[in-house]
Amino acid sequence: MGVPQPAFYIFKCEQSSPPGMPKPSCLNPQTQDLFQHLSQTLMEKGIIGTVQPIRTACLNRCIAGPVMLVEPGHVMYAGLTKEKITEIIDRHIIGGEVVKEYVILKELWDAPITPAAMIKQMGR
Ligand code: FES
Repeated sequence: MGVPQPAFYIFKCEQSSPPGMPKPSCLNPQTQDLFQHLSQTLMEKGIIGTVQPIRTACLNRCIAGPVMLVEPGHVMYAGLTKEKITEIIDRHIIGGEVVKEYVILKELWDAPITPAAMIKQMGR
């Protein structure tokens, strides 16, 4: 048997805007320990080997930050806190149920457009 793939990847936005920038960002003094909380909780529950937390740059949903994307599933969670992250791990990652109340608003996360459809839209 080979080395098993992770069951999930969790992409946590770790982008911070420079002070004074009007654009909101996912990383500020109040939210800077969310990634550590995510990793530590996965470790404490003994599932870090099959759930890979990844720090990313901006995921283009800053307005709803702090955000993180769970794959597979394209599930984008918004407005994160430590408590919400713990609950997402328990209910979604372990329990298999998307935590709908923490999912980003549909108007900010509509169905994806395939690259082929996007190229067609541009008339190329
Ligand atoms: S800064 Fe996190 S989505 Fe843009």
